[in-house]
Amino acid sequence: MTREVLAGMADELAPGQRKLVFVDGRSIVLFNIEGQLHAIDNACPHNGASLASGPLEGCMVRCPAHGLRFDVRSGCMPGAAGLKLTTFPVRAVEGKLLVSVTQTPASRQV
Ligand code: FES
Repeated sequence: MTREVLAGMADELAPGQRKLVFVDGRSIVLFNIEGQLHAIDNACPHNGASLASGPLEGCMVRCPAHGLRFDVRSGCMPGAAGLKLTTFPVRAVEGKLLVSVTQTPASRQV
């Protein structure tokens, strides 16, 4: 089941900023890139490193551990193949940041 979860206030995420949030037992990184909101899982699909502090080049975040790059819009690596990062729909409604997450058995226990 997918549901929207409050992840903070929109004024906490100005263009050019990022924010690490914990929702439903997940660690999620929110980005505001030129006014567009994006949300990614804070675990690199290569080996699980945190992406929260990864350098951002346009819409590409670089994993600080081994340097793989992922597009925060799609979760994809450059090119046709490769690992895929989990992304989440996010939107601002009445000043609130809402992230859509799929409820997992682990998150139901929280
Ligand atoms: S853990 Fe991210 S590139 Fe290896």
